[in-house]
Amino acid sequence: MNARDRLRQYLEQRRELGETEFVLDGLPIADAMRLLGLRGDEASAGAQKRPESSARKAAELAGESGDWRTALRSIGAEKPASSRRTIDAEQRPGAPQSTGTEPPRDVPEKVGRLEMPTQPVGDATSEPPAAPQPGIAVGHPIASLAAGALAALDSIDAVARAVGTCQLCALHAGAKNPVPGEGNPHAGFVCVGEAPGATEDETGRPFVGQAGSLLTKILAAVGFTREDVFICNVLKHRPPGNRNPSPEEIRACSPYLLRQLELLQPRVILALGTFAAQTLLQTTQSIGKLRGQLHRFYGVPLIVTYHPAALLRNPSWKRPTWEDVQLARRIFDNAARGA
Ligand code: URA
Ligand code: URA
Repeated sequence: MNARDRLRQYLEQRRELGETEFVLDGLPIADAMRLLGLRGDEASAGAQKRPESSARKAAELAGESGDWRTALRSIGAEKPASSRRTIDAEQRPGAPQSTGTEPPRDVPEKVGRLEMPTQPVGDATSEPPAAPQPGIAVGHPIASLAAGALAALDSIDAVARAVGTCQLCALHAGAKNPVPGEGNPHAGFVCVGEAPGATEDETGRPFVGQAGSLLTKILAAVGFTREDVFICNVLKHRPPGNRNPSPEEIRACSPYLLRQLELLQPRVILALGTFAAQTLLQTTQSIGKLRGQLHRFYGVPLIVTYHPAALLRNPSWKRPTWEDVQLARRIFDNAARGA
């Protein structure tokens, strides 16, 4: 793609994600300079260092304080709290909202809220994340049910085959296809959603409907194609009418997710929406509380953000989502450098 098309695509993505201002952090400076009819070569040499060290500093600070907004502000990448319009969702603990039909409850506007970590957090970047040990998720409360059989599934494909014949809950009976997940099994970046919807049920592929198109754009905005990452859900069969997953269904199905994560050994997990976040972190805290901080899933950095379906209803959540996904990308890059 030439520089002009790339710049156009970049600006379109930013606009789509709710940005009105932009920072040229996706376009090589040399290309931007050339677009402007300037010489790009020596300008790029000095300028290229800054994003990397800024990102590292932000991630380090986020690791220290658990608050990435403070961290981003300190490197000048984030406006002070008073000028922000971020809205955090409030939800009933233990009552995650559907990504399908019902709109989220009215959310009180909270400006620049700072959260303390709910989980012990470490430094995101100064050392590579501890890889989950094989079998470690067996100790996870929700993994205990099927631990024995699942431990024998020794590849992502083997998990997919097992999902295809699974009858641990009733959802398989009403579903057209299992949706085990797809992508690069060596990706290092794993997106976890809630459950297949109608289009996913038709095709057997995760995130291919309307919310899926938005996810694809969000990933593209941080430089990932779908093939670069692995995408899956907590539930592998569609709940009828896109109703919320039940606790029993989550208990029955999430061991597959945990086994996938064991096999994938990701550098970063991006939990999309309430169900993925609450299931992986074993918490009933609301998404508004969980996002905006670094969590750990068996040592693996985990970032929580809004579900793409929720963004379709609440465009004002695009900006915070954009920040969450950028943070996840930076942690990924830093981990990749350390590996
Ligand atoms: N919503 C999800 O949570 N997962 C999908 O795969 C599609 C929509
Ligand atoms: N409810 C969800 O399920 N996901 C969100 O991201 C927000 C509200």
